[in-house]
Amino acid sequence: MATETLHNANVTAPGGFSPEDVQSITRALNPLLADVYALYIKTKNFHWHMNGPHFRDYHLMLDEHADQIFGIGDDIAERVRKIGGTTLHSIGEISNVKRISDNDKAFVAADEMLSELEADNRAFADNLRAAHETTSAANDYATTSLIETWIDQAERRAWFLYETTR
Ligand SMILES: [Fe+2]
Repeated sequence: MATETLHNANVTAPGGFSPEDVQSITRALNPLLADVYALYIKTKNFHWHMNGPHFRDYHLMLDEHADQIFGIGDDIAERVRKIGGTTLHSIGEISNVKRISDNDKAFVAADEMLSELEADNRAFADNLRAAHETTSAANDYATTSLIETWIDQAERRAWFLYETTR
């Protein structure tokens, strides 16, 4: 199965991690990578389909958020490769392991878009915290440090989305 393949780590671990740690870190990071691309495209979806009197502000804010989210993806995938794991290959694999739900509705009101993205960014931060437990336990300092930055970024996006809607 494709999903199983994603969780299999190479036997050689160039980062010096044990096979067990390579596997646990890979299992923590690949779903995060899928979430990044799912959240990226959803943020772009709402950027493209924004509506209402605050169109310009919201449209621009979501573009900033999308750029920041997209910037995380390559770092996650390359951390997996640096420690000797296998990362995602395709949109199909992203779809199999992502935890951010799609929203394909023809119309979504602006406030609903912002609230949904706030919840998604908070869920993403929670998933980052869970991955942080794994990378900390494995003494993967580099990934752990990156995750801390990504948590702050996700909390900042959630903060902006929250304050914009209340
Ligand atoms: Fe655009």
